[in-house]
Amino acid sequence: MKRKKLVAGNWKMNLEIAEAIKLATGVKDARANFKCDVALIPSFVYIAEVKHIIYATGIHLGAQDVSTHENGAYTGEVSATQLKSAGVEYIIIGHSERREHFGENHGVLKQKMEIALKHGLKPIFCCGEPLQVREEGKHKEYVQKQLEESLFNLSAKDFANITIAYEPIWAIGTGLTASAEQAQEMHAFIRGLLVPKHPIALQTRIIYGGSCNAANAKELFACADVDGGLVGGASLKSKDFLAIIEAAG
Ligand code: 13P
Repeated sequence: MKRKKLVAGNWKMNLEIAEAIKLATGVKDARANFKCDVALIPSFVYIAEVKHIIYATGIHLGAQDVSTHENGAYTGEVSATQLKSAGVEYIIIGHSERREHFGENHGVLKQKMEIALKHGLKPIFCCGEPLQVREEGKHKEYVQKQLEESLFNLSAKDFANITIAYEPIWAIGTGLTASAEQAQEMHAFIRGLLVPKHPIALQTRIIYGGSCNAANAKELFACADVDGGLVGGASLKSKDFLAIIEAAG
């Protein structure tokens, strides 16, 4: 079975409410042309508004983080059940920015994966190496460890509900993109690690993130194991984001 591509816009901590509405509306208005799955991943505060705009359009909704706790006295946290009840489907877990700036280690990520899956959310699990590791030629070992630590305990059923995002840190927000060859090599490597554990991983989408834009998306998405993109900066303007969606068609 052919894997359907996914193009997800990770808005990160950007946009004010009027801009978020304009962007979501711009994407919604173009949906008739979409040939891949499309997800919008706004800040928590815009989730209800974006859900309202994309309701019943087939556009998917994601969130950028989830609490490790079920519910209760955890000021500032947002739980998996709250997200689910607000119409969220995808959840980013393990983004390098959360690992780096918020100290999320593999123990935390493992808990987030488990709680998200338990409540029916679909994790987009991010992995990827820093520049120094790439320069030392140790990127495969590095990513393998990230996957082993946070994913290898999951069941085959869980694997049916996850997406993996390969996001080399040196490519995030830098304008430096992995070449199509580099991306394909890593995606094939990741799939090769997962399939012997769970054959269903043949169907797992492995998407690419890191300065993905309208100019490079087509070449990246043409790679056999690149099943779409997790797009940061270029997802903040509907024209750019729509061009990336078109490249996945
Ligand atoms: P950029 O597309 O801005 O490089 O960000 C990628 C990313 O981190 C998506 O999660």
